[in-house]
Amino acid sequence: MKNSTVHLLTLLIAVFSVVATVSSCKHEIPSPAVNDDDGNGTGGGGNNSVPCDSDSVYFSMQILPILQSNCAMTGCHDAGTASNGVVLTSYSSVMNSGIVTPGDPGNSDLYEVLTETDPDKLMPPNGALPWAQIQLIQTWIQQGTRNLTCDGGCDTSAVTYSGVIRPLIQTKCQGCHTGSGAGGGWDLSTYQGVATVALNGKLMGSVQHLAGFSAMPKGGAKLPNCDIAKFRIWVSAGYPNN
Ligand code: HEC
Repeated sequence: MKNSTVHLLTLLIAVFSVVATVSSCKHEIPSPAVNDDDGNGTGGGGNNSVPCDSDSVYFSMQILPILQSNCAMTGCHDAGTASNGVVLTSYSSVMNSGIVTPGDPGNSDLYEVLTETDPDKLMPPNGALPWAQIQLIQTWIQQGTRNLTCDGGCDTSAVTYSGVIRPLIQTKCQGCHTGSGAGGGWDLSTYQGVATVALNGKLMGSVQHLAGFSAMPKGGAKLPNCDIAKFRIWVSAGYPNN
């Protein structure tokens, strides 16, 4: 009798703590999988035969990862929460949210909230995105909010931390992996943080979706093979801080 009361209490406490965690706007358990909006079966990774042009912005490769890791988590702009009616999990959901006017960033709520000077209205609420990412979104709107994909080839000739790994993590991981609320407690905003998961095997385990690891990017499609190859090359080389 006593024992079962204790068990019931433990269960109640567990349920309460889960509810408490989910109710805040945290980078946790974003539910919907990424749509393969470009329809090429690569999860939007861009394996099309059109070569990439450095003047064009490619939504699934350059814009969606920023939105997914900074905005589309549970409690914010995933399909389940849809804060303010805005869902930022795929090309179609971004377009259907009515927050972009093709060709006109100044008339697009998306651009406005990213550059807002009033801290109460700024998005993400915990601090502005890096300026380079805001500019990329601005250019994407200026170019007509197109859903372009391209084949950039896979250049693995010079995989350095600063030139390749850090930008990759900034775009695809850092939104969920920075500061005190970092996913799983893994802060990937510094070299030291990335080196830690390189050393303990979790980096390669999670991006390759191996058994026993949490699949990353969480809630999103697996990274394109080219990105995984770059991580592998860098880790195999002893994850240098170069
Ligand atoms: C949408 C948020 C989100 C994104 C994007 C994301 N992560 Fe995570 N990550 C998490 C959370 C939350 C955890 C904690 C474990 C869990 O909940 O599955 C985690 C855990 C991890 C772990 C530990 C895995 C384990 O098995 O213990 C590693 C390593 C990791 N992430 C790396 C990455 C990398 C690399 C990327 C980018 C390619 C990335 N994450 C993108 C949210 C995210």
